[in-house]
Amino acid sequence: YHVDWDPASAEKGGFSSFMEKEIHDQPDAVAQTLLGRSDLNGKLTLDELRIDPALLKQVDKIIVLACGTAAYAGMVAKYAIENWCRIPTEVELAHEFRYRDPIVDANTLVVSISQSGETMDTLMAVRYAREQGAKTISICNTNGSTIPRESDAVLYTHAGPEIAVASTKAFLAQITAAYLLGLYLAQLRGNIFSGQIKDVLADLGKIPAKIQKILDNAGPLRELARSMKDEKSVLFLGRHVGFPVALEGALKLKEIAYIHAEGFAAGELKHGPIALIDEGQPVFVVVPSPRGRDSLHSKVVSNIQEVRARGARTLVIAEEGDESVRDYAEHVFYVPETPTLLMPLLTTVPLQIFAAELAGAKGYDVDQPRNLAKSVTVE
Ligand code: G6P
Repeated sequence: YHVDWDPASAEKGGFSSFMEKEIHDQPDAVAQTLLGRSDLNGKLTLDELRIDPALLKQVDKIIVLACGTAAYAGMVAKYAIENWCRIPTEVELAHEFRYRDPIVDANTLVVSISQSGETMDTLMAVRYAREQGAKTISICNTNGSTIPRESDAVLYTHAGPEIAVASTKAFLAQITAAYLLGLYLAQLRGNIFSGQIKDVLADLGKIPAKIQKILDNAGPLRELARSMKDEKSVLFLGRHVGFPVALEGALKLKEIAYIHAEGFAAGELKHGPIALIDEGQPVFVVVPSPRGRDSLHSKVVSNIQEVRARGARTLVIAEEGDESVRDYAEHVFYVPETPTLLMPLLTTVPLQIFAAELAGAKGYDVDQPRNLAKSVTVE
């Protein structure tokens, strides 16, 4: 008599790895992070911040600090916060920030983003900012960890424990929390109409089901990933909020599949990266919604044409209904419609699945990649 499961696989909920499980946890991670943070009238209720609203009204600059995947969440946050709040927002790697004598004062709001709340460089950067008199808010996934304890306020992401070294659900939860913070600041400062906040909240509320749809339809993407297990290099292009998504797609592939991967701002293509394009070079392109800013969408479509004309294999992530990319794409993976600013919550998911599937096909330990630690608590 034997049981054909062990406690480790039971914890993975039937998935082949924690990373796969956590990718599938994402509808819930986003939903939980949104839960209880707005009322029925579409008003943000972040009382948990316990930071004097009068102080937040005085903020004239925001600096987002983080490392790794969390820093890409920060880049997404910048687009949203500047758009909604009209407060100049910088994003900086925490280790760069702390060694350059940055300009920070009492009107600066420092937002740190960290899954673990223990990353040494991020912690040191927050400490430095606090010493200079800045207000500090931590976006964090780990209750009671050091960074939130040392910050003026914390906005927890409720993604649940993340076990795989490569971050997935924490990333989407971080972006979600950053959107909430941006909307809250906009509400406090009266930057946007309450109706507009309500609309964004409604769009955010629809994200979990849309992520689920991507997960349920990932068969062809997984097949492509397995067929590409011997690739030596994969490039990722994106513009606007698609740029950090491209960076994150490349990072996932480096981290767990050990494939050389680079993410680029699509507009930089002609300033260098296009020289890398050769017959058969795989290039993922993250395309913005055609319903958003016209110029943005058409620019990215021309970027696809440019790399295609030089022999690239074009692997396109686009919005459902966008037929304009079909002629130039070897493969198109569609994500459901959503406003451009929120698109990273959807367009990231296929890139995570691609990396996990490909690394699995190579026989690698997807959860415990070589040389990496889940939380880097040393300098
Ligand atoms: C390590 C992990 C990454 C993570 C980064 C920041 O490098 O391997 O997945 O993005 O640290 O971690 P944090 O806990 O601060 O979000």
